[in-house]
Amino acid sequence: MRAVDIIAKKRDGGELTKEEIEFFIQGYTRGDIPDYQAAAWAMAVYLRGMSNQETINLTLAMAHSGRILDLHQAAPFVVDKHSTGGVGDKTTIMVAPWVASCGLPVGKMSGRGLGFSGGTLDKLESIRGYKVPLSVEEFLTQLRDHGVVVAGQTADLAPADGKLYALRDVTATVASLPLIASSVMSKKIASGADAIVLDVKVGKGAFMRTVEEAVALAQIMVEVGQGVGRRVRAVISDMNQPLGRAVGNALETAEAMAALRGRGPEDFVEHCLVVAEQMLILGGKAEDKSAARRMLTEALESGRAWDKFVEWITAQGGDPDVLTDPPDLPRARLIEEVPAPRSGYIAGLDARQVGLTAVLLGAGRAKKEDTIDLSVGVVLAAKIGDYVEKGQPLLTIHANDEHRLAEAREHLLAAYTWSEEPVERPPLVYQVIG
Ligand code: URA
Repeated sequence: MRAVDIIAKKRDGGELTKEEIEFFIQGYTRGDIPDYQAAAWAMAVYLRGMSNQETINLTLAMAHSGRILDLHQAAPFVVDKHSTGGVGDKTTIMVAPWVASCGLPVGKMSGRGLGFSGGTLDKLESIRGYKVPLSVEEFLTQLRDHGVVVAGQTADLAPADGKLYALRDVTATVASLPLIASSVMSKKIASGADAIVLDVKVGKGAFMRTVEEAVALAQIMVEVGQGVGRRVRAVISDMNQPLGRAVGNALETAEAMAALRGRGPEDFVEHCLVVAEQMLILGGKAEDKSAARRMLTEALESGRAWDKFVEWITAQGGDPDVLTDPPDLPRARLIEEVPAPRSGYIAGLDARQVGLTAVLLGAGRAKKEDTIDLSVGVVLAAKIGDYVEKGQPLLTIHANDEHRLAEAREHLLAAYTWSEEPVERPPLVYQVIG
């Protein structure tokens, strides 16, 4: 078998066999197949798609490219969550300690920013000292002793995804149903959780642009997970506008911390509640949504969720001096408030445009070796449905470069559309699958 023939077969719209997929994934993981061939293959998959069977085979080949963890030595039942990627999506930072504070262990391997969409690991690294790379032993110890762990993918867990993920980010091959499904589920299978809640984003700021596409992605991921004996549910959630108000690594971490202290933006907290409810139900801690909501509300109001957050972060190396109120996170040099250019209702707030602007400010990567600026980003004062008077604050830009700030201002103003008439807020969640 030769890699070039497999690339050509997919380029021409052929269906790859299980053996061909395994050959390609194993060869790429070992380094026998170089990045340039993997990039061509990923583009062929992006353009031609894959059948459900190919997607399942790809996911399993990627999951078995390294070790499959057994978490039961650390906890009898572990739950995980994963987002397919959006803008302002800091859900894990709130939900992981929140669910853990209700007595359900959360063990999660997260990713870095991908294209216009941010990554949890980058956000967590804005906390001085937080240790993203953990060995399997460290992962298990943290899970056993603290009931919550969020780490990077260790080199021996789904290494094929680790390599492909970074390659896709810089080869315009992210927004592909089979590539996203296999990326997410290979990690989830390898990292060993018993139950997984998938947060499948849909809209302008998501890789899936229509509810139909998001449902198709959710269904295949649920099928793959259940096929290997995991409990899986998918929440299809809106990503036409950013989630919450902050976009950018340290800014989002600060927003999630404020939410854990009971002062989060309403849409963000509600979204986290929906995801956390599903985790508690799948984990057998709550009978139904209202029981789960009661537990979560009590954990938040009593301060237990915040205490669990502090325990998690400090146990994973984070400097406790950072966790002040407000937190001591990286701060940009230039902070500019942008006033509304007119009066009216906000009719649209293009999440993709906002995400790309955050990348332009330095919050994301253009090449996989790039380092990012944790301090930059934007905080939105007004979102869809809000009425704003001309001259009132519309948003605040955090930048470290005057030119980029000016460019960002222009892009962000263009991301808003206006209406004279009242505008309904978009739904937060479309449906739950599984
Ligand atoms: N999240 C992942 O883990 N992989 C993707 O491809 C997209 C989002």
